[in-house]
Formats: sequence, structure tokens, C-alpha cells
Amino acid sequence: MAIKHQALSLLLSLLVLALTEGSLAGVITIYWGQNGYEGTLNETCTSGNYAYVNLAFLYKFGGGQTPEINLAGHCNPDSGGCTFLSSQITYCQRLGIKVMLSIGGGSGNYTLTSTQDAKGVAEYLWNNYLGGESMSRPLGDAVLNGIDFDIELGSTEYWRYLAMYLSEYSMKRKKVYLTAAPQCPYPDKYLGSALDTGLFDYVWVQFYNNPPCQYTSGNVTNLLNSWRKWTSTVPARKIFLGLLASSAGNGYIPADVLTSEVLPVTKTSSKYGGVMLWSRYSDLQSGYSSSIKRSV
Ligand SMILES: *[C@@H]1O[C@H](CO)[C@@H](O)[C@H](O)[C@H]1NC(C)=O
Ligand SMILES: *[C@@H]1O[C@H](CO)[C@@H](O)[C@H](O)[C@H]1NC(C)=O
Ligand SMILES: *[C@@H]1O[C@H](CO)[C@@H](O)[C@H](O)[C@H]1NC(C)=O
Repeated sequence: MAIKHQALSLLLSLLVLALTEGSLAGVITIYWGQNGYEGTLNETCTSGNYAYVNLAFLYKFGGGQTPEINLAGHCNPDSGGCTFLSSQITYCQRLGIKVMLSIGGGSGNYTLTSTQDAKGVAEYLWNNYLGGESMSRPLGDAVLNGIDFDIELGSTEYWRYLAMYLSEYSMKRKKVYLTAAPQCPYPDKYLGSALDTGLFDYVWVQFYNNPPCQYTSGNVTNLLNSWRKWTSTVPARKIFLGLLASSAGNGYIPADVLTSEVLPVTKTSSKYGGVMLWSRYSDLQSGYSSSIKRSV
């Protein structure tokens, strides 16, 4: 009887956990790496505010170029200058945080010129940042959880092949997560057909720097209409609201507006995964994630 009772209460608490973890509660994703004054990766993870950290950016790759990562003032990747991050990446992962390599970015020199090029880039990423092996892994031995596509320039083609080739490296016990940060105008010019493959786990849509689909002067209509389009159309596991953590930006949503007018609506979607913030530096200055965390 006692055992039965215990089993039942365990079942109930698992159910509650499943419900809160599943559809109701969201999490926060942060971009780290583009400002030397944003604190270390360790500190970012210790804050307890984030479930996903995207290391930004691998800004040069494809078209036969030797790929290069840029982490601003944090480190110089030449001759192994960023490998000290390995212990911080595994530290974050021990805290349950998933750490991705974000490829692309708002400026850079990247493209894909063919399916063969996509295959080569996938192989490079696997060997240098994921579960493969290479003599010169820029971030050392730590195995990242996946690849984030922040493609904003270069070729509009072949990104679906990169997603397909990367997903072939995914294994039962060591999944390669695929995430993406498209612009909110639908469909995304660069990532549209890649997203259609359904291979992406999380898609954090950039609802900023895009007036037709962002929060504008007190009006949430365009933002919410766009949100509904994305959540009803894109076959990803979860969709996130990609937002700015700094009031200096175009499309910034004040924390009280987000928690009172936006989140109550977006959270009704079973696709809702949480909020993505650009960037750790802005968040450190503004405290945005701390003020919205309980409502996400
Ligand atoms: C990050 O934190 C982990 C755990 O405390 C520690 O092992 C590692 O040395 C730290 N790395 C740095 C560079 O502070
Ligand atoms: C980008 O790389 C290509 C190929 O190496 C090179 O021809 C071009 O000058 C580069 N552009 C920039 C802006 O660095
Ligand atoms: C908000 O924006 C929508 C779409 O542009 C517009 O139709 C609506 O009138 C606006 N609402 C207010 C209160 O300004």
C-alpha cells in the first residue's frame, strides 16, 4: 500500500514536471561572444538565467575559405588562443545549459556555393566543434551541443543541405542540436527552405530590426500576427521570441509590456519555447532577463 502510494505520488510529480517543463514554462537563450565586456562564459552560465548559450560567431566559412571564429575581445583564436574556453563550456553543460556554435551573423564573409560545399562545412563543424576530431579545435576538446544558423548574408541556397548533413552526425546518445535565428518577415530569405526540412529543434525568430513584424510604438499587433504565422507554419520543435535586451535597439519591448501584453498570448501556443535575447552584453547592462525570467 505504502509503495503503491509512493509510486502514485512519484507519477503525479512527474506529470506536474512534464506539464511545466513541456508547454507552460519557457526558457531564455542568450548570445555570448560579440563584446569583450560582457563577462566570461562561466559567469554567463552561473547567472542561472539561461538554458541555451549561443557562441557568436563563426563568421567566415564556405566557398573554400579557411573557417574563422570571432569572439571579439574574449580571445584571439589564432594559435589556440580560445581553447581555454573548453573548461567553461563543459562547466556550463554540467549546469544543464546547452552550448551552441552560432554560424553567420550580421557581418562576415560566409556563404555556401554548392551541396558539396555544404557537406564540407558540415564535416568541418563536426570535426572542429562537435563530436569529431581535429588537430586544431578552436575551442579545444569540449563538444558543443549543436549549431545555430544565424544566416543574414551570402548565398540564399544550400543551407538546407548543411542542416541535412549536420543532422546525419546526430546520434541516439549524442544529439547534434540544430537551431536558427531567422528574421521575422516570413519566409526568411536565407533560411526558409532549410526550416521547411523540419530538422531544426529550436527557432528563435528575430522580432527586431524588422519594422513590419516587430513591436512598434506601443503596438503589439504586427508582432503577434507574425508570431502566429511562425508558430502555425514552421515545423520546428519549439519557436522562441527573439528580442533585444537593450532599449537602444529597434523593436525593443519594455519588460512590463512583454510580460503583460506579449507573453500571455505567445504562451498559449504549444510551439512556444521561450525568449531569445541579443545579447549577453546588453542583458548585463539592462538586467532584462532577470526582470522577465519569472514570466517567461
Ligand atoms: C569555469 O568554472 C569551472 C567550474 O568551477 C572551472 O573548473 C573552470 O576552471 C572555470 N574556468 C575559468 C576559465 O574560470
Ligand atoms: C571574402 O572571401 C573571399 C574569398 O576568400 C575574398 O575574395 C573576399 O575578398 C573576402 N571578402 C571580405 C569582405 O573579406
Ligand atoms: C496597431 O497596428 C495595427 C497594424 O498596423 C493597426 O491596424 C492598428 O490600428 C494599430 N492599433 C493601434 C491602437 O494603434
